[in-house]
Amino acid sequence: MATPLRLAALLLVLVAAFASAARADLVVSRADRKVDLTSHIVRVLTSLKVENAGSEPVSKVLLAFPNIQAKNLAAIRAFGTEGKVKGLSSVLPIEVVEPSGVPPELTFFSASLHKPLQKGKILHLDDSSHYLSPYPVKVQTLSIRLPGGRVESYTKYGNTKLVDSELKYGPYEDVPPFSYNPIIVHFENNNPFAVAKELIREIEISHWGNVQITEHYNIVHGGARLKGEFSRLDYQSRPYARGVSSFRHLIARLPARAHSIYYRDEIGNISTSHLWSDSKKTQLEIEPRFPLFGGWQTTFTIGYGLPLQDFVFSADGKRFLNITFGSPMEEILIEKLIVKVVLPEGSKDIDVSAPFPTNQWQEVKYSHLDIAGRPVLVLEKPDVIPEHNLHFQVYYKFNNISLLIEPMMLITGFFLLFVACIAYMHTDMSISKNSPSYLAKLQWDEVQATVQQIQGIFHQCLAVHDKLETSLHDLSRTGDAKSCKAARKAADAQFKELAKELKPLLLSVQSSPQSYQIWPKLDDLVAKERELQDKLMARHATVVDSVEKKQRGQDIENWISSQQQKIAALRQEVESLLEYLSEI
Ligand SMILES: *[C@@H]1O[C@H](CO)[C@@H](O)[C@H](O)[C@H]1NC(C)=O
Ligand SMILES: *[C@@H]1O[C@H](CO)[C@@H](O)[C@H](O)[C@H]1NC(C)=O
Repeated sequence: MATPLRLAALLLVLVAAFASAARADLVVSRADRKVDLTSHIVRVLTSLKVENAGSEPVSKVLLAFPNIQAKNLAAIRAFGTEGKVKGLSSVLPIEVVEPSGVPPELTFFSASLHKPLQKGKILHLDDSSHYLSPYPVKVQTLSIRLPGGRVESYTKYGNTKLVDSELKYGPYEDVPPFSYNPIIVHFENNNPFAVAKELIREIEISHWGNVQITEHYNIVHGGARLKGEFSRLDYQSRPYARGVSSFRHLIARLPARAHSIYYRDEIGNISTSHLWSDSKKTQLEIEPRFPLFGGWQTTFTIGYGLPLQDFVFSADGKRFLNITFGSPMEEILIEKLIVKVVLPEGSKDIDVSAPFPTNQWQEVKYSHLDIAGRPVLVLEKPDVIPEHNLHFQVYYKFNNISLLIEPMMLITGFFLLFVACIAYMHTDMSISKNSPSYLAKLQWDEVQATVQQIQGIFHQCLAVHDKLETSLHDLSRTGDAKSCKAARKAADAQFKELAKELKPLLLSVQSSPQSYQIWPKLDDLVAKERELQDKLMARHATVVDSVEKKQRGQDIENWISSQQQKIAALRQEVESLLEYLSEI
């Protein structure tokens, strides 16, 4: 029972505290607002003179926005000066707060003062957004700068003036807290609205001395859409008549020492870019391939290198990149900006410090020679305007030894290659001299050469056989038994001669272990040839004999013809064995 009671008491105190904070005795003695509508980024500058009319010091000033505006708010900044307007102004930290007892359709930001505002003291406060006060306002004015075209209509209150392209409201006096009078201005704006649907900025750090930036743009002209057909001829002949709301060019302001600058799209280099630089900046003016009208899109890439020492520093044993976050393009609204910081391979303990909240994650990028890949820190932020082009820092640890890994890999690689080459050549030489396989090859070559010689001898033998046959034919024509016998004698001598030549060759082949598979064939060949010779000689002698004696009985005829068949068969065998040997 005791607990709920105590809780209730506590809640009351808290509510009271918030209510008093919201109602702090501040009075806005003067509020002047300037709204700049000349480009597609609406900029609101509110100058407030805030007075503490109460007795307690106040350290926070609340700034109120209708939710619908707060939702589209890309950036808000506040500067404060105590005392005189001309005094030193400083940036005030701002946070979103949810005080209770206030209308739910409002979003509150709280600007924290560096020094509490004492009773009766005055603070000058600028903020860059629409103004709606939780405090009473004594005097306020509003001025709206328009781009200079036609103004269709605007809301009129007392004290409203349109002078040239400036619309003025006020001064209005003694306005109570939370007063809200919506106004509507309908005007013409033909200025080109550069909107990047997406921009991917890659910042790659190389400790060899370069920071390489590559920016991939997908740009749409977010302004008034083109009515009717586009005619390039028309556009070129009267560019300012019809082309009012088209991009003729985009300007990128790059750091002074940017180098190796390029601008290309998927077709290739775009030459219609101009570059000029002074000691403070390098300016790149790029012209898309075709004029861009409202709603039209284009994609392109720009790239440039920056000196490492201008953007990467070291402190406390760490290194850090300090570079601007947004696009170098002038007056561009980026719906989705992705910044990828590619750190050198081997970087560790990665940390980021950005002046506004971003989505963050890490990736790995591989390029040639990378082993573990390069750590990539990715930052993503929606709705980025030039006001976000502030410096951010990426801290990381990197050992210089890591720098040497890739060159060492190359050196080692080449060294190993050379060693391999030398080793290979060495091995090759030893093959030619001593290796068993080479010796075997030599022996085999020798066997082949000898076998060829042997074949030659056998072919000579066959030629002698043919001569014997011829002599028998001649005998049957001339009956000259004498010369036939002489032919046989010569043949016999030749056979002996050839047998003598053959002997050492056969021995040589048989002494080589390489040739064992042909030994049986050689033996066979020798045996068949000898048998063939014997049969030929025997038949020759019988035939000559029978011619000399002039008696040829049936039995001799039969024998001769049976010998004839055997000789033909043997000759066949010898020839096929020779054929076999010629194929080894
Ligand atoms: C593109 O232009 C850059 C700078 O003008 C030049 O260095 C590069 O060689 C060009 N590349 C091609 C493919 O023409
Ligand atoms: C980053 O660079 C900017 C501009 O040179 C400088 O004002 C700022 O102090 C630097 N930030 C850090 C953390 O060094």
